[in-house]
Amino acid sequence: MKKVFEPVELKNLSVKNRLVRSATWEGIANPDGSITKESYEIYEELAKGGVGTIITGFTSVALNDYYFDGMMRLCDDALIPEYKKLVDIIHTNGAKTISQLALGAYYRRTSGGYEQVEPDEMTAEEIALVKQQFIDAAVRAEKAGFDGVQIHAAHFFFLSRFISPAVNHRTDSYGGSVENRSRMLLEILDGIKNAAPSLHVTIKLNSSDFTFGGNEEEDALEIGRLLDKAGIDSIEVSGNGTSVGGIKAHVNEGYFVPFAKTLADNVSCPVIVVGGFRSLDVIEDVLNSSRIELISQSRPLLCEPDLPNIWMQDKSHISKCVSCNGCYRSDSHKCIFRNR
Ligand SMILES: Cc1cc2nc3c(=O)[nH]c(=O)nc-3n(C[C@H](O)[C@H](O)[C@H](O)COP(=O)(O)O)c2cc1C
Repeated sequence: MKKVFEPVELKNLSVKNRLVRSATWEGIANPDGSITKESYEIYEELAKGGVGTIITGFTSVALNDYYFDGMMRLCDDALIPEYKKLVDIIHTNGAKTISQLALGAYYRRTSGGYEQVEPDEMTAEEIALVKQQFIDAAVRAEKAGFDGVQIHAAHFFFLSRFISPAVNHRTDSYGGSVENRSRMLLEILDGIKNAAPSLHVTIKLNSSDFTFGGNEEEDALEIGRLLDKAGIDSIEVSGNGTSVGGIKAHVNEGYFVPFAKTLADNVSCPVIVVGGFRSLDVIEDVLNSSRIELISQSRPLLCEPDLPNIWMQDKSHISKCVSCNGCYRSDSHKCIFRNR
């Protein structure tokens, strides 16, 4: 029987429990990607709260990625010491940490500045550049001491759009079949494995794009199988529109669980599932009725960063998160019902 609070050994990653903080972007980094004091405090509090693994917020691999304000960035070696400080704070407080490597969108330099370019319009050189940006960022993450990196291929950010048939209509080896559309992910994975071999390499993947003409569960299953075969160390299951509102404990928790269970039955790597977990007994039930190894959470840890510690004392505690999504609109993505 799996227990939530027991150590688990994953490839290149030993964790103290099965709870993961899913990537949660704070939007408070400086424009160059350097980290602000408030970020250090947020991660320190989270690590002290007992979660086993913290996946950082969206960390862009490029300097010219203007998708959001306040993105962390691992796009320059000069930033490594700042990220090392973040890692050290998390490690000192007993958690492991994975940097979520992402690209909001690809921006091409033009005579008038930069313009966002969709996958169909990208040249082979531009695709190679983006791949290299992910690999270089992973090397920086390894140098900063991160335990792993997560390739963000969910939620219709760049990589998720690149692999989606709703967006990608390329006619070269990066378009068409699921295998071709996944090529970019597989090449990034291979590059990271070679360049930063000490890292746990995970990926966040949509179970479905929930978009007309996009990837559906059978496509996601195939992408998962391809990644597994290529040596991914774990897969975190999500989906477009990931932060579903109106979640009630014991009523509609764990909305990506059905697909995650199917994926876990079809791959050899560990599967992590995010989305709407609010009670410990539901988490225990999911873990013990499937091959899913880890559960990840975002909003409940904005509301109560010490939720894992609370659960160790009181198994019946229900997350205070009401899934209002007010956190998306608040400064530094705080829970609007909590005074930091
Ligand atoms: C404020 C906020 C910021 C988020 N930022 C990210 C992010 O940077 N990367 C990501 O993959 N998901 C991000 N998410 C989605 C969460 O990781 C998670 O998939 C989603 O909220 C569902 O899980 P939950 O019910 O535990 O909140 C964010 C969610 C919130 C509420």
